[in-house]
Order: sequence, then C-alpha cells, then structure tokens
Amino acid sequence: MAKPIPTSFLTRANALFRKNLTYQKRNIWSNVRLIVIPLYLCVVLVCIQALFDALVNNSTDNQCGCRCIDEKNGDEKCEIKSCGLQYSSQNQAVFCAFPNPPALLPLLHIPRRDSCRSRRGSCPVTILVTGTNQSLGATLSGNLLSTSFTVNSSDLFLRNLAYNVLGTKSETDYTNYRDPGLYSDLPIFNIQPQCTSASKISFSLRQSPLQFQKEVRCVEGLNLWRNNSIEVNNEIFKGYHKENHKEIINEVAAAYDLLDTDKKNFNVTIWYYTTYKGDLQDWRVKYVRVLRSVNMVSNAYLQFLQGPGTKMLFDFVKEMPKQETRLRMDMASLIGPIFFTWVILLLFPVILTSLVYEKQQRLRIIMKMHGLGDAPYWMVSYAYFLAISTLYIVCLMIFGSAIGLKFFRFNDYSIQFIFYFLYINLQISIAFLVSSAFSKTVTASVAAYIYVFGSGLLGAFLFQFLIEGLSFPRRWIFVMELYPGFSLYRGLYEFSQYAFQRNLNGRDGMKWKDFRGSAMDEVFPIIIVEWFLALIAAYYMDRVSSSAKDPFVFLKNAFKISSSQERPRLQKQVSSVLVEMDKLDVIQEREKVEQLMLEPSTSHAILCDNLKKVYPGMDGNPPKLAVRGLSLAVNSGECFGILGPNGAGKTSFINMMIGLVKPTSGSAFVQGLDICNDMDRVYTSMGVCPQHDLLWETLTGREHLLFYGRLKNLKGSDLNQAVEESLKSVNLFRGGVADRPAGKYSGGMKRRLSVAISLIGNPKVVYMDEPSTGLDPASRMNLWTVIKRAKKHTAIILTTHSMEEAEYLCDRLGIFVDGMLQCIGNPKELKGRYGGSYVLTITTSSEREQDVEILVQDVSPNAKKIYHIAGTQKFEIPKEEVRISEVFQAVEKAKSSFKVFAWGLADTTLEDVFIKVAKTG
Ligand SMILES: *[C@@H]1O[C@H](CO)[C@@H](O)[C@H](O)[C@H]1NC(C)=O
Ligand SMILES: *[C@@H]1O[C@H](CO)[C@@H](O)[C@H](O)[C@H]1NC(C)=O
Ligand SMILES: *[C@@H]1O[C@H](CO)[C@@H](O)[C@H](O)[C@H]1NC(C)=O
Ligand SMILES: *[C@@H]1O[C@H](CO)[C@@H](O)[C@H](O)[C@H]1NC(C)=O
Repeated sequence: MAKPIPTSFLTRANALFRKNLTYQKRNIWSNVRLIVIPLYLCVVLVCIQALFDALVNNSTDNQCGCRCIDEKNGDEKCEIKSCGLQYSSQNQAVFCAFPNPPALLPLLHIPRRDSCRSRRGSCPVTILVTGTNQSLGATLSGNLLSTSFTVNSSDLFLRNLAYNVLGTKSETDYTNYRDPGLYSDLPIFNIQPQCTSASKISFSLRQSPLQFQKEVRCVEGLNLWRNNSIEVNNEIFKGYHKENHKEIINEVAAAYDLLDTDKKNFNVTIWYYTTYKGDLQDWRVKYVRVLRSVNMVSNAYLQFLQGPGTKMLFDFVKEMPKQETRLRMDMASLIGPIFFTWVILLLFPVILTSLVYEKQQRLRIIMKMHGLGDAPYWMVSYAYFLAISTLYIVCLMIFGSAIGLKFFRFNDYSIQFIFYFLYINLQISIAFLVSSAFSKTVTASVAAYIYVFGSGLLGAFLFQFLIEGLSFPRRWIFVMELYPGFSLYRGLYEFSQYAFQRNLNGRDGMKWKDFRGSAMDEVFPIIIVEWFLALIAAYYMDRVSSSAKDPFVFLKNAFKISSSQERPRLQKQVSSVLVEMDKLDVIQEREKVEQLMLEPSTSHAILCDNLKKVYPGMDGNPPKLAVRGLSLAVNSGECFGILGPNGAGKTSFINMMIGLVKPTSGSAFVQGLDICNDMDRVYTSMGVCPQHDLLWETLTGREHLLFYGRLKNLKGSDLNQAVEESLKSVNLFRGGVADRPAGKYSGGMKRRLSVAISLIGNPKVVYMDEPSTGLDPASRMNLWTVIKRAKKHTAIILTTHSMEEAEYLCDRLGIFVDGMLQCIGNPKELKGRYGGSYVLTITTSSEREQDVEILVQDVSPNAKKIYHIAGTQKFEIPKEEVRISEVFQAVEKAKSSFKVFAWGLADTTLEDVFIKVAKTG
C-alpha cells in the first residue's frame, strides 16, 4: 500500500495563509476601518498643525511687525508693506531681519527694590567689593563710578553717556534688539556716588531706526568693602528674591572679588544680577546683562594703573545682523506621541481577538485534526500578523510623510522603521501570550482596548510628565519602560522631540548617531528582550493550555517523583478486569488484531492494539480509566459504528485516534502508520467530522473546503475539482449556497459542510462524531447517502446515538460501555444475539390487565412483563418458545372475550440491544 506523503510545511503554511487572507478579505470593512484610523489621525494632526500655524505660527504677533505704506488703498488690501523693528512690539522684534543692527547702550541690571523706593524715593545701588588687598579694593571702588554727568545732545550716538554707568530695572528679553531697558517706559538710571538736584534729565535717543525720548534719573551707588568672598556670597544669598519678590531687603547689583589682583596681575570674579524665573517650558534663552559690569571693573583697574585721565569707554553693544525668522512650532510633533501610540497599539486588539476567536470557536482543534500542527499554525499566524502589521506601519509612515507630518519626515526612516518593526514583533508575541488567558473574544477585545487607550493616556499625562520632570529618578523611568505601552511611548516621544527641535531651530532630526544620546539605547534593548521573553512564555503557555495541563505542571513534576511507583499496580488491576469481562466477539477481535500485528504489512486501514487511556487522578479522585484496552481492526470500505452511553469513552478513543491525546499504552496504526510517531503523515489521509460544527462564520462553504483541501495536499485543478464534487455531493452546490458565508447556513447545511470537510481529499480514514445530530429526516437521508458513497474507499469510524443511523450506515457495530467494547458484530447479528425475543404490546381497559397477563402466560410461560401503564402492557416473549401464528391466535381468542383496543408484535430493535448491553456493562 502506498504510504501517504505528509503535507509539507509550506503547503500547510500556504493553506493557512490563504485562508487568513480570505478571512481578512471577508472582514474588509473592519480592515478598512483599521487602516482608516491612522490615516484619519494623521489628517487630524495635519489639521491641528494647520490651525496652529494660522493662529500661532503665522499670527502677526509671531512675526516681525509691519505697516502698510501705500496709503491710497486705505485699509483694504495692503500692497506695499514695510517691516522692521520700528513697527514691532517686544515679542515681534525677535523675528525681524536686522541687516544693520542698531547700536545699543550697555546697561547694568539693577534690582527693583520697590519697597525701598516707597520709603525714600530711591535707594542706593549696592556694589560689593572684596579681595586680598583692601587698599587696592578701595582704590578700584572709587574708580567704578564717574562723578559727573553731562549729556551732549548734538552727539548722535550719545557717546558721552559712555562716561557714565547707566542701569535699568527692566528685565531682559529674548533679544537685545529691543532691550526693554531702552524701550520700556522705565527710566534709565545713572549710577553716581552722589546725586545732585539737577541730575534728572530727559534726552532723545536716536538709534536708527528708532527714536524716542528717554529720562535719565540719578541713583546713588554704594560701594561696600567686604572682608572675603564668603561674606559677599552670604549677603547676596540673603538678599536674593527675599521670600516674595517685593520684600527684597538688600539686593546687590554687582559684586567683585579682586582676589590676588595687584599692579601686574588683574584677577577678578564677578557676581552679576539676573532675575530669571526658572521656566522649563520656555525653550528660548533670555539675554544676560553682564557686559557693563565687566567694563566697570576693567575701567577702574585701568585708571588705577594709568591715572584718572585714562578711560576705557564702553560706547555701545551691537548684535550680529540676522535674517528675518519665523516661529516654527511643530504642534503635530508635540502631540504626536499619544496619537501614534494609539495607532500602533490599535493592532493589538485585532491580533488578540483573531487569536481568541479561533480558540473560542475551537477552530484550532479542528485545524489540528486536519493536520495543521502547532508549529505551522503559530509560525504562519505570526508571519501573517507580522506582514499585516508591517504593511500597516509602512502605510502609516508613507501616508504621514506624504501628508507632511514632520514627525515622520525629519527623523531617519531606517531608525523609525526598525523601532516600529521591533515593537510590532513584541506586540504580536504579547498577543500570543495573552491569548491563552482569554476564552471569549468579547472580554479579550474589551481588555485590549482598555490597554490601548489607557497606555496612550497614561503615557501622555503621566509618563511624559515624569520624563520631563528632571527630578524623577531615571532608574524608575527605566522600570516604567518595561511596560510595553510606555516603551512605545518613550520611543515616539523621542522622535517627536527630535522632529520638534529640528523644525524649531534647524537641528537635525533623529539619526543613528543620536541613538545613544536619545533614550533609544534604552528602549531598543527593552523591546528586544521582552520580545524574546514573550515568545518563550507564549510558547510555554500554549503547550500547557493545548495539553490542558496545569500551568505550573513543571513544578508539580519536580515534586512528584513517587507517583511513578503507582503506575504498575494500576495497570495490573486494569488488565485483570479486562480479562474477566471480555465478551466472546470482543476476544475474537482481539485475537484477530494480534494476528494482524504479526504481519509486516496489513491491508487494514485502522488497527488498534490494546489501546488504553488513563487520565491521572485529580484533586484526590482516583485515576479515570477512559479506555480500558481496545482492540479493533477496521478495513477500508468498512464503516464501523460505535454506540454507547455518554461518558463511555467514545470521544477519548476518537481523540486518541486523531492525535489530540496520546494513548497511555497500546498502539494504533492507520494505514500502517503508527499514530504515536507518524501522525503528520496520518493527517494527510485522515478526515474528521467533529460533533459540533467548527466553522468560520465569515468564510463560505467553498473557502472552507479549499482550505482543508490544501491541507490535504490537493493542488490546482485537482483541488477545484475535489471541492466542486464535494459541494455537489452534499447538496451545497446549487443556488449559490457554496458562496454564502457559513455563518448564514442552517444547522443542516453546516452539518453537511462539516461532513464534506471530513471527506475532502479522499481520506483513507474518516472519524465522524454523531454526524447527523439535529438534522431533519430529509437532510439526514441525504447525508447518509453521502457517507455511504464515501465509504467505498474509506474506513469510517462513526459514533452515534441513532440506532437507525447505525443500522443504515454501519457494517459492524461495537457497543462501548465503561471504557471498553461490550460486543462487536454487524447489526443483524447483534439483534439476533441480544434480541432473541418479540415484544408484544396490548392495550385494554385497565380492569382487563389481569386477563391479558394470564393469556400471555398461556402462550409463553417465560414471557416477561417489561412495561405497563393504564391498560397498555409490553411483554418480552422468547423467540424459541413461540411462533408468531400462536400469538395471533391467542390475541384473536382474547378479542372475543374482552375488548382489545390495540395490539402489536415487534421484532427486537437495535435500540433494545443497546439498552440491554449497556445495562449488563
Ligand atoms: C596693596 O595695594 C597697594 C596699591 O594700592 C600696594 O601699594 C600695596 O603694596 C599692596 N599690598 C599688598 C600686601 O600687596
Ligand atoms: C558735543 O558733541 C560735539 C560733537 O561730538 C562736540 O563737537 C562738542 O564739543 C560737544 N560738546 C561738549 C560740551 O562736550
Ligand atoms: C573685616 O576685617 C577687619 C580687620 O581685618 C575687621 O576690623 C572687621 O571687623 C572685619 N569685618 C567683618 C564684617 O568681619
Ligand atoms: C586668579 O585667582 C584664582 C583664585 O585665587 C587663582 O587660582 C588663579 O591662579 C589666579 N589667576 C592668576 C592669573 O593669577
């Protein structure tokens, strides 16, 4: 006999892959929705960005100020605009172009000291000096400030203002082009050792392109010597921003530590005054007024060396010329992480529900019965989800870039792709792992969506906050990143930051060289390690759940060494029971099997030799003997029916034969192939029709058959022909039934499809578990015809509760009771052997029951009453004691003496046999 070639891995993978594709095609709308969501979110981001551009980036507040200069058009449309510093507000000035930056007065920043002013009108500006040589310090102090103050108004650049030390109380801004010290309403202070009454002057500043009036007010400057720098430090510290900003006690404008300065050596440390408010959110840097204080001490030192006639004048400061700039804040990048976290995590529920669906509908098991082992299933599923996810990610990247999101455009595509790719691998592995914890798609999808949205929101509102809060320990950030949602968020956050910075100030987006600088060197290893761990864990959980074992079985095994000693005793007990209870025909079958086992090649399709299955005892229950040594030989072209009450071990037997569970002992051969070692090859020539229809609701009948046909190694035109024939044979061909989704089939159609599936590819062995349950008589007849036709080249093992079916289909029957066959034979034999009696039913009025009994006793003294109710009585009459004519005569006689409403005589049915055998077992 030609041994079947096992279906190759590739064929099986191909079958599953095509089935999955069809399945997804059927769910086209949910897929479209899935793809549309990221596109939709990208569009939303672009809209947000456009809105932000219009309202913020392009608002007149955030660009250099302009004014219309063609008056004739009025307010309508301005054709000629002039832009520049002179039309700009403080904020706008930052953005203006400065081909020729104006000369600006260098100012000293002096503390506000409002409380002091309210007491005395003005209070002195304190300058502290220290150093190793006090007399030198005193000399330099005297030189710091100039005593006279004159303004020469014909001096265009106010050069002689440079002889004086001018200060301001206004804060600095982001740019010096419009230094608030000059442009605000606050006066400029001229710091002098002593103020005279005439020291308040107004003058006009003409600094192209701006001209304005400015008041210069005198303020007393106080130079104080301190013994050492520690004292200076303490004093500044005590005065700095004292509590609330108003209660400033003695703020110091500047302080100098002259250190070891002498005639040959000028060495000085300067403390300068600033009023920054630590603002993390502000990415711009404010200017610092430090230049004037440097010049003051340098000038003083020069005068000390060269005499009071020498001056080192600090006329003005000038910024460098610059182009006009614009505000370019990429809002889309800033809020991108939460959106893209959602987008990428959104695949998780899809994968998870798909996996749980196949588990919930028990489709995994049926695929396994048709030869799709765990390895191809997992590999193909993995590859399939990976392909889908990759496609999704690539679509997202392409679309995001095309629509103009800087988040995608500015960062290196390879680093982005690898990040996403690694993450989707992790995501799929986690879905595999988690799928073993769910048995219902509804709960799985609810949990998965909570994970998706929860991760996004927690990422944006908690995790990001912690990343940016510099005080949060980095270690704990790392720990948080172990949560997959956060590691994804972190990666996206880094991308967004790089894109944002690049857009704002032209720095580069993320490149591979930034790998170390960003948190990517942290996130990548986490993702990779978790990916492998999740895969291993998923594999283990799958092993455990598919063998229906306790997840911690390996722990138990370690502790339970003693259990192996129990086993021999148990088996002995079983075999002694067997010998005692075996019936003659069963013994004959066993002998036949033993004979066949000796022959090297056998023509028998199915051969079971003393097959046993013992389920280990659980929770203190004794071990359950599901099958207690079964020997059976079934020929090709034979249909063997198994009858038996529920729980007799029929399903355990079938499960062993289809490789779902391993036999405890004994062996079985299908086509000469051992089911323990060669199951892969057995599957190719095996068909299974399970008790419950295990079908994909959205796949059509034809697609089911194509899938299983491919698993059975059918290809090309053979496949199409087989499917066509199969559909015709089960009457699912006409009227487009074959192309309707199986979910819309009636119960009978589903059943017929299940049978067709089990028969596709001309399997040599078919197992059918109650194939006609729940069918109307017409469909049942139809189905039987199909099975009968298929039987010609096939060995069929069929379990049923319908005696009619058993009688019609089966060549031989075995009645299975309590884990073993009680009898084997063809239906007629069994009826003859176990029946051997007629059943007489007589209905009379209830007073006449006694008479009927006497009558029956007359006919046959050994007759047994098996049933009576309200005048209807049933008797079992041994066949050898009576002839049918005698019974007829007796009844006729009885009719003349009392009224017989109805009567009947029946031969034994298979049902009676079954009940009888089941009772004895
Ligand atoms: C301190 O400086 C003065 C000059 O102002 C110099 O004459 C004197 O020698 C210096 N003293 C020391 C101890 O260096
Ligand atoms: C004022 O400035 C002009 C031009 O720099 C100069 O000629 C004139 O002497 C100055 N007057 C005084 C009083 O310094
Ligand atoms: C500074 O030192 C001088 C003499 O060296 C001393 O008289 C004075 O008390 C010191 N001042 C302070 C505030 O310690
Ligand atoms: C300046 O002073 C510091 C602190 O006393 C000292 O370390 C450094 O050597 C001095 N520099 C010079 C050029 O003297």
